[in-house]
Amino acid sequence: MKNFSAVILAAGVGTRMKSSLPKVMHNLSGKPLIKWVIDSVSSLKPDNIVLVLGYEADKVEEYLSEISVKNLKIVYQKEQLGSAHAVMQAEKVLKNYNGNILVLSGDVPLINAKTLSALIKNNDKTASSLTVLAAEVANPFGYGRIVKKDGFLERIVEEKDANISEKRINLINSGIYCFDKNLWKALSKVKPNNSKKEYYITDTVAILKSMSKSVSLTVTKDENEVKGINNRLELSQAEALLKDRKIKRLFESGVSIIDADKVYISYDAKIGQDTIIYPGVFIDTSVVVGKGCVLKGSSYITDAKIDDGSIISYSYINGAVIGKNVKIGPFSHIRPGSVLKDNVKVGNFSETKKVVIAKNSKVNHLSYIGDAEVGEDVNIGAGTITCNYDGINKHKTVIGSNSFVGSNVNFIAPVKVGNNALIAAGSTVTRDVPAGKLAIARARQELKRRIIK
Ligand code: UD1
Ligand code: CA
Repeated sequence: MKNFSAVILAAGVGTRMKSSLPKVMHNLSGKPLIKWVIDSVSSLKPDNIVLVLGYEADKVEEYLSEISVKNLKIVYQKEQLGSAHAVMQAEKVLKNYNGNILVLSGDVPLINAKTLSALIKNNDKTASSLTVLAAEVANPFGYGRIVKKDGFLERIVEEKDANISEKRINLINSGIYCFDKNLWKALSKVKPNNSKKEYYITDTVAILKSMSKSVSLTVTKDENEVKGINNRLELSQAEALLKDRKIKRLFESGVSIIDADKVYISYDAKIGQDTIIYPGVFIDTSVVVGKGCVLKGSSYITDAKIDDGSIISYSYINGAVIGKNVKIGPFSHIRPGSVLKDNVKVGNFSETKKVVIAKNSKVNHLSYIGDAEVGEDVNIGAGTITCNYDGINKHKTVIGSNSFVGSNVNFIAPVKVGNNALIAAGSTVTRDVPAGKLAIARARQELKRRIIK
């Protein structure tokens, strides 16, 4: 494939989203619509990506400054006078550019890189000044229709301007085009002669033909990949499509999902063979799950790595690294910085944060363990709290291997407990406990006569 540059249109208000957020910043399976399009285009290594922004441009730019996009240039369309007018804004960047110019909208997140590269190749192969990507769809309502004459692309007519017989055409314009350098000349001839009084990029078809340039068509078989997102319904339909694709691949790779309608699994999740996912599980972005795990009802998991054989039930996990054969839940909250090594158990109503818990240790009931280091084979009794925060700073608790912590113990951090220590139930530990010692830090019980009046 010869070199190309891309122009991505994203200046529109996206009126139909009814949102204060620019349309292309709406989230689809963990990334904004615009990022889906940028990722697809970027994988083909364009010379330039010219992004046309307008409505709430600063919100899009703020996001783009957080991620890095190679060869990105931003131009502005101050007034949204139509898709042709939007493309014109890219002229100052690409005026002297000699390669192909791929034009697409920022609202077609499911577009495949393969389809884009086929489109660009077609433009070269047929020596065309424009190749339009079309799709055969069941319901063409709302799309521009491809009008053919003698089997060749003649022009594109928008829904609002189409007559009854044109409305019946179900070959639609995807809004994705590959132009050669004649683009700029053609654009200069576009007039807003339509019901919306806008400058339509689609008019370049007829214009290029009148300039005796050849225009051609490629048709994608997958109508879903060219679906534009114009409203919330279409956004949720795209979400469903991505999920279906994902779940199909997971089934093929040996993952069991008991009720596929009742789970959410992000496009980027990696899940090992023989893992079973129960209804109610929500796997958000950046999750890796090993083989033979069990993920049970109403668990939310994001930004986590879970190794083979672990069982998660009814828990919330965010920012954690979890070893093999770990048991979490029911009802645990595993917060950022939690590292749970092999065979650890964190159970009923326990919370962990910024902690390394070494293998075979247990935090089974009603505990908060944060800013801590817990050794191997430690048993933490019910209701144990690491009192890590003094109101200004966070302090650390260290509990050595093979130690036993009785129920209802408070560790007033910073504090260290050596290996093989025993902390009596109900203790408030304010001083370090050396290895092998028994610490009791609670008021001695007194017995007095009960006075009954
Ligand atoms: C457009 C096509 C239609 C095609 C459909 C595919 C035109 C005239 N029509 O219609 O043939 O079937 O896409 O989804 O192009 N934009 C700007 N500035 C503007 C106007 C639009 O940047 O002044 C951007 C929008 O942000 C959007 C894209 O261009 O990303 C397309 O605009 P939109 O209004 O969504 O066009 P459609 O009506 O969907
Ligand atoms: Ca659209």
